[in-house]
Amino acid sequence: IPVDPFDLVIFGGTGDLARRKILPGLFRRFRSGQMPEGAHVIGAARSDMDDAAYRDMVREAIGEHGGSEAKDSKALEHFLEHVRYVAVDARGNTGWDALKEVLREDEGLVRAFYFSVGPGLFAELAEGLRRHGLADAETRIVVEKPFGHDLESARALNEELARHFHETQIYRIDHYLGKETVQNLMAVRFGNMLFEPLWNSQYVDHIQITVAETVGVGGRGSYYDKSGAMRDMVQNHLMQLLCLIAMEPPARFEPDAVRDEKLKVIRALDPVDPDSIVRGQYTSDGTVNSYREDAENPLSKTESFIALKTYISNWRWANTPFYLRTGKRLSARASEIAVVFKDAPHSIFGIDAGRHSNVLSIRLQPNEGMTLGVTIKEPGPGGMRLVDVPLDMTFADALGPEAEEVPDAYERLIMDVIRGNQTLFMRGDEVEAAWAWTDPLIEGWQRRGDSPKPYDAGSSGPDDAAFLINRDGRRWRGVRQ
Ligand code: BG6
Repeated sequence: IPVDPFDLVIFGGTGDLARRKILPGLFRRFRSGQMPEGAHVIGAARSDMDDAAYRDMVREAIGEHGGSEAKDSKALEHFLEHVRYVAVDARGNTGWDALKEVLREDEGLVRAFYFSVGPGLFAELAEGLRRHGLADAETRIVVEKPFGHDLESARALNEELARHFHETQIYRIDHYLGKETVQNLMAVRFGNMLFEPLWNSQYVDHIQITVAETVGVGGRGSYYDKSGAMRDMVQNHLMQLLCLIAMEPPARFEPDAVRDEKLKVIRALDPVDPDSIVRGQYTSDGTVNSYREDAENPLSKTESFIALKTYISNWRWANTPFYLRTGKRLSARASEIAVVFKDAPHSIFGIDAGRHSNVLSIRLQPNEGMTLGVTIKEPGPGGMRLVDVPLDMTFADALGPEAEEVPDAYERLIMDVIRGNQTLFMRGDEVEAAWAWTDPLIEGWQRRGDSPKPYDAGSSGPDDAAFLINRDGRRWRGVRQ
C-alpha cells in the first residue's frame, strides 16, 4: 500500500548512512510501488552542489548499495526525478530559506526531517527548524543513534528536542527494531497460543542473546573508542531485543501500549554484579589490526566485546538468567536469541538431566528464521533411542521466494515514519531508563580500573565469557550460520 505523499529532508544527505542505507532503502520502496509520485526526497548538507550533482551521487550510492534492484535503471532514473538537494549550514543561517522554498505546503503532505548527522547537531537542527519556521505540529523528526552517551546527556538531549517537538513527533531510530525477525518475534509470541503459557521462569531455564560481528572498528575508531560495546550495542540493540523477549503482552499492537511494556522490563532489570560482566578487546591474528591499532589508541581500555548475565525482577522472570553477548572481530557474523526451556521434570527414558533439548532459536542474521528443538525417537529399529531435531521455520523456505526479499530495517522504519507509526521507535523515557541501567555498570569498571581481556580476532571472544555461563552449568550455543 503506498504511503501518503511526503517531503523527506535528509540532513547529512551526503553522509555514509544516507548513501549506504537511507537512499537505497527509499529507492527499493519506490520500486516496489510504496512511494507515491508525490514523494520528494531532499538531501541537505553543507557542500555546495546542484540537484544534478546530488542525483549523480545518489545514483552511484544506490548502484553500490542497492542490491540487484539497482540494476533496474529505468526505475532508478524515475526515482531520481523525486530527489533534490539544498545546501544548508546546520550551525549557521545559510540555506534555510532555500530549504523552505523547496518544501511544499500541500494539505495532507507529510513533512519529515531525518537527522542523519552526529548527535552534536541534533539540538541545533531542531532549533533551526523552529527558528526558520520549517516545522509545525505535524512535522516529524527522525533521530539516529547514539542517543546520548549516558543518562545525563540523553536527558539533556530529550529536553532540547522537547523544547521544539512533541514526543509524538520524535522518531528515535534503533534499526534492530526494523529487522524482520525482530517483528516476527512479536508475531510468534502474541499470535500463537503455543509459546506464551511456557514463556516464564517456570518453564524457561535461561535466555541467550548473541550479536556477533566479524567486522572490526577500523574507520570509526575515534567514535567507538569513547563508546565501547556496552554503549554501542548493549544499551540499545541488545536491550531492545531483551525487551521484546521479556515484555508482557501489550493490549494492542500500538506505539504506547508496546513501549509501556518495554519500559517496565528495563525498569525491572537488576544491576549486574561485576563478576557477571566480561569485557574483551580483540588482538591481531596477524591478518587484521588489533583493536588498539584500529582505534589508534595504544593504551585503550575500551571493550570491543562484552558478555554479561542479568536478571529481571518481576513475577514472570524472577531467577531466570538472561545472558547477553556481543563483539567485533568474532568468528562469524551471526545474531541469535535462544529461549532455552527446562528439561522435562522426570525422564521416563532414563536420560540425564541438563540436555535442554527444547530451544527456540530466533535467528536475526544471516539466514533469518526460527527453529524449535524437540526430542523425538530416532527412526528405525534399535529400541528407544532419542534424538534432538529442529522444527524449522526458516521463512524463505516456508513462504517462498517473496520472503527472501526481506526489506532492510531502514526502509521499513522510514516508511513507518511517513505512516506516522511510532511502534518500532524508542520513546524518550525508554532511552533514559536504558542509560540508567547502563551507567552504573560502566562507572563500576571505570572506577575499578578494569582492563578488558584480550581475545584473538576471529575467535569466539575471551575465555572468561565461556566461564561466565559454564560456571552456572550452562553453555553458549554455537551460533548457526
Ligand atoms: C550499529 C553499531 O548501531 O549497529 C555498529 O554502531 C554495528 O557498531 C551495527 O556494527 C550492527 O548492525 P547490523 O544491522 O549490521 O547488525
